[in-house]
Amino acid sequence: MSKQPIGFFDSGVGGTSIWKEVISLLPHENSIYLADSRNAPYGEKSAEEILALSVKNTEKLLELHCKLIVVACNTATTNAIDFLRKTYPIPFIGIEPAIKPAALSSKSKTIGILATKGTLSSALFARTSSLYASDLNVIEVIGTGLVERIEKGLINTTETRELLQTYLDPMIAENMDYLVLGCSHYPYLIPILKELLPEEVQIIDSGRAVALQTRKILESNSLLNTSKEKGSHSLYTNASVETLVHLTQDVVSKKEVGYLDF
Ligand code: SIN
Repeated sequence: MSKQPIGFFDSGVGGTSIWKEVISLLPHENSIYLADSRNAPYGEKSAEEILALSVKNTEKLLELHCKLIVVACNTATTNAIDFLRKTYPIPFIGIEPAIKPAALSSKSKTIGILATKGTLSSALFARTSSLYASDLNVIEVIGTGLVERIEKGLINTTETRELLQTYLDPMIAENMDYLVLGCSHYPYLIPILKELLPEEVQIIDSGRAVALQTRKILESNSLLNTSKEKGSHSLYTNASVETLVHLTQDVVSKKEVGYLDF
């Protein structure tokens, strides 16, 4: 059982930011990553559609014998994780915007949250926000168009910069000191965000916290891979492989990335 892979799914390539954190913390684990790029972005879809896509991805990962699934997509986590946990007999790890650490650390008492419409309008997000940030000025901004640009590999471009600047301006104007990235695609924008944001603004994403939680849950379920060998990885997309290859080439070779109809 312990040698079985950890499964990951996302609406596309963005969840590889989470996958990288997990395999870096757990180098002996095998993994399978599904990029549902054919259906990206999830953020503009209805809750029912997001749930149906999450079920489809989960069933493919179960067919591939995964022992635990990381829902490496904020939109799918906020809309589907309760159902997945109730329905399938393996552990699920989700990602939620890191509102709690930002709220606890903010000195200006103003934090910005950049996320998709699907995440910001979910009940889980509303619960987390009112639990940890009810006494703060929380500026929520929908990152319309960003996921599509990252999916196309259009990251370091003038248009992406200009779009980001329009999303950041209202947050900067209100003196935010923490920016929470509420979408697993957005960590790929961190180098540009650092150029656009005032120096004192801290950026928080959820990757490290998800990796630590994955290790904890594997340990407590006796599912850790005890092999001393480096894990093997298969990354699949149901669309063009180009961006997935490009974003993961720092970790895996091209032959570990392929097309799968799911
Ligand atoms: C999306 O597909 O719209 C974004 C994925 C995410 O929320 O992490």
